[in-house]
Amino acid sequence: MSKLDVTQVMVEEHRLILRMIALLERNTELMEQGQFRDWQFFLDGVDFIRNYADRFHHAKEEDVLFAALVKNGMPAENSPVAAMLMAHDHGRALVRGLEEAAQKALAGEPGQIAVIARNARGYAELLRDHIDKEDSILYPLAERVLPAELRPDMVRAYQAATARDAELESRYRRLVEKYEQRAAA
Ligand SMILES: [Fe+2]
Ligand SMILES: [Fe+2]
Repeated sequence: MSKLDVTQVMVEEHRLILRMIALLERNTELMEQGQFRDWQFFLDGVDFIRNYADRFHHAKEEDVLFAALVKNGMPAENSPVAAMLMAHDHGRALVRGLEEAAQKALAGEPGQIAVIARNARGYAELLRDHIDKEDSILYPLAERVLPAELRPDMVRAYQAATARDAELESRYRRLVEKYEQRAAA
């Protein structure tokens, strides 16, 4: 019996997350140069990160993929899974910082550009590195070690996460496309 794939869909989600990260980096750069003042973009970026990157993608990792690795014998502490969970938490803190500063900027409070830039870049760097480690180390490891019998339930759990909000993927894809089109204009 060939093993069901349990990471390809996660790699594809990384691609959409990386497109939003590229927008965050580009618009942060332009903001610092005085050429970008669309504070709503940063709030939409926070919405994307919270709901797509975190509640959807990271939740699937934490509840399904990482849980399966631990069930299969990977230690929960001082392990690759523990390092990935720490990065998810660190990202959540940076996103709170980004949200607060963007809300203040939108309300007309001065002095927020440096705070937005620090949190947006911090998140972008963290997640690029994190995604790179998952794509190149942890996911290939998962494909090597997870036994076939664990996989059908994992695929079902992924599908259940998608079914909870069938529109989520296309909604956030459109959001990324909208800002990519504005960036290209
Ligand atoms: Fe992750
Ligand atoms: Fe991931």
